[in-house]
Amino acid sequence: MSTLQPLAGFREFYPDDCAFRNFIFEHFRQTARTFGFEEYDAPVLEPVELFTAKSGEEIILQLFNFEDKGGRQVTMRPEMTPSLARMVGTRANTLKRPIKWFSISEMFRYERPQKGRLRSFYQFNADIFGNESSYADAEIVLLGIHVLRNFGLTAHDFHVRLSDRQLWTLFIRSYNVGENEIPNVLGIIDKSEREEPLKIIESLDKICGGEGRKMFDELLEIKTIHSINDVREFFKKIENDAIGQRIDELAQLLARVEIFGLSDFVTIDFSIVRGLAYYTGFVFEIFERSGQSRALAGGGRYDNLIKKLGYPDLPAVGFAVGDVALGNLLKEKNFHPRVSKNIHCFVVYSSQTETLALRQATMLREQKINTDYCLESTNFSKQLKMASQANAKYAIIFGEDEAKTGHTRVKDMSSGNEVVVEIDRLVEVIVK
Ligand code: HAM
Repeated sequence: MSTLQPLAGFREFYPDDCAFRNFIFEHFRQTARTFGFEEYDAPVLEPVELFTAKSGEEIILQLFNFEDKGGRQVTMRPEMTPSLARMVGTRANTLKRPIKWFSISEMFRYERPQKGRLRSFYQFNADIFGNESSYADAEIVLLGIHVLRNFGLTAHDFHVRLSDRQLWTLFIRSYNVGENEIPNVLGIIDKSEREEPLKIIESLDKICGGEGRKMFDELLEIKTIHSINDVREFFKKIENDAIGQRIDELAQLLARVEIFGLSDFVTIDFSIVRGLAYYTGFVFEIFERSGQSRALAGGGRYDNLIKKLGYPDLPAVGFAVGDVALGNLLKEKNFHPRVSKNIHCFVVYSSQTETLALRQATMLREQKINTDYCLESTNFSKQLKMASQANAKYAIIFGEDEAKTGHTRVKDMSSGNEVVVEIDRLVEVIVK
């Protein structure tokens, strides 16, 4: 690869690509605002400890980190959540709760580039702080659904696969696994679809004293559960009061989604565990129904992160949607924006009318009307051709004869109709 090429996993955005990206971002922004979320942003370069301490091993292996000129260990951000936790934590005592914030920002992960996964990508993050109920969990799931529905996607196209780390943890504890081994078992479960069963059993055996086979069979069974009744049925055999209460909370989350009329979008699916270390409660990922692509979105509850970073205790729940898998899906479905230059007026002039015409261009631009013109004066037919290539709505033609009487012609480019307008009233007529 030539050194002049962009790095693998990084994208260039030509105007069409940029228009598509903006189309995605505008939909993100619009949906977040309809849910009452406020926009924030954070630094793109962060101290490496922010992630090594809290995000978990998978992310650490993917960091784009280096030493800066002052000898500090820094990294391009791989995700938003720790920076956001720091920001909210810093003002935890003054911010009005619940805090509902969103951002649209670029992330960097040193992953093997493949379909749906790059080394630089954008994420829409939305998080709620200061409410620990399953109603906040439900609000995050509902926002995830609405973000995708706003593009025209339906329950036939995607679903939310909902799981729960607390129930997984209670299950693991029933095997006498030490507390510090629990994250390892969760990691094994997370990767279990991509690993050989014998290898998984071997790893589990080491952690739970020879009961690896039994645990493996049970975790396969848990992964087949898709209804709250079956969750109750399965967990009946584990004696622990916390289980009943936790299942009730999960049921409450699902009931809330039902109240909002969006149950068709949600599936209970315990094969979702999530790779990030900070989740403490329910977790989810959003996938295309066909199961073809990588996850479109992922998130969950992370009640301890802010405290672990040294700030006040503040419950938190949130998720992120990436632009890559989503962009691929929208393109496959042909949910494309119509890309055009979006020029409203194209000013056509001759060398005699140049000053008069271009002064009017300034006045139109001052009124925030998208206005273009041919940089160098040429004949009218060439300029009109440029106006039509630019998709201009109107050509404002400054002919010499009309100009002498203080007039100009406004040509509607789609109908071809022309009206003569006093130059002094041009801006007023166009604004109307
Ligand atoms: P995540 O699951 O790592 O979660 O990422 C969320 C989404 O970002 C993924 O579902 C995927 O669409 C996209 N994504 C991740 N890595 C890549 C990549 N290499 N290339 C393209 N897209 C990618 C988080 O990042 C959490 N911080 C989300 C969260 C917010 N949890 C609570 N609040």
